[in-house]
Amino acid sequence: MIIAFIGGTGPEGKGLAYRLAVAGLEIIIGSRSAERAADAAKEIAERAGVSNLRGAENIDAAREGEIIVLTVPFDAQAATLPPLADALNNKIIVSTGVPLVFDGGKPGIASVPEGSAAEQAQALLAGSRVVGAFHNLSANKLWAGGALDQDVLVAGNEDEAKNDVMALAEQIEGIRAVDGGALAASRLIEGITALLIGINKRYKTAAGVRIVGV
Ligand SMILES: NC(=O)c1ccc[n+]([C@@H]2O[C@H](COP(=O)([O-])OP(=O)(O)OC[C@H]3O[C@@H](n4cnc5c(N)ncnc54)[C@H](OP(=O)(O)O)[C@@H]3O)[C@@H](O)[C@H]2O)c1
Repeated sequence: MIIAFIGGTGPEGKGLAYRLAVAGLEIIIGSRSAERAADAAKEIAERAGVSNLRGAENIDAAREGEIIVLTVPFDAQAATLPPLADALNNKIIVSTGVPLVFDGGKPGIASVPEGSAAEQAQALLAGSRVVGAFHNLSANKLWAGGALDQDVLVAGNEDEAKNDVMALAEQIEGIRAVDGGALAASRLIEGITALLIGINKRYKTAAGVRIVGV
């Protein structure tokens, strides 16, 4: 299974790629720049101690990946996805994006006409199967390499695609995937990230999510 990242050179892409590479998956780090992609891939491969990881321009990552993880900033999504739509047709797309805003330093969620970042991605990629996941995992914590021991809430409209993404998330040691429901539940799950950022500031930590009773 080849996992390709679109915008994989930032903290969230690198953190997730590192953890999935350690789990033995083949990874492509996509970027607008082949050089930045190669540099990031080299850094992640060295950190993970693996060789099954390479860089590529986003369009090649989109073509070659079997599951595609979107890790561009939400503001960049609407311009980034349409040129990749043909290459992403029929594929599972994992939306990690959060439409964060800061009002007087306080984190919140921007109003998105489609409802959420994940639903916007689905509207832009009508031929793909978008699943929301990984929103509540701290990039710093992923990259730091310690125990994670938390849940990943997964939302999607197609059970098969959602189950594949839940299985992917559980490849990461210390992660349990929890079915969050239909793609529209991404509105709630993305919002939890704003909540966690506030908690992180107050408690000076990198908080995560654990659902009890499941
Ligand atoms: N950081 C976290 O802890 C965290 C946690 C949960 C979810 N997320 C979500 O994960 C996503 C990535 O977060 P991040 O902190 O890694 O973001 P980031 O560093 O701001 O951006 C990630 C990558 O996206 C590409 N990019 C930036 N601006 C772009 C533009 N205008 N057009 C196209 N590509 C652009 C860049 O890659 P190239 O320049 O190489 O193309 C960049 O390295 C976000 O949607 C965020 O909401 C982040």
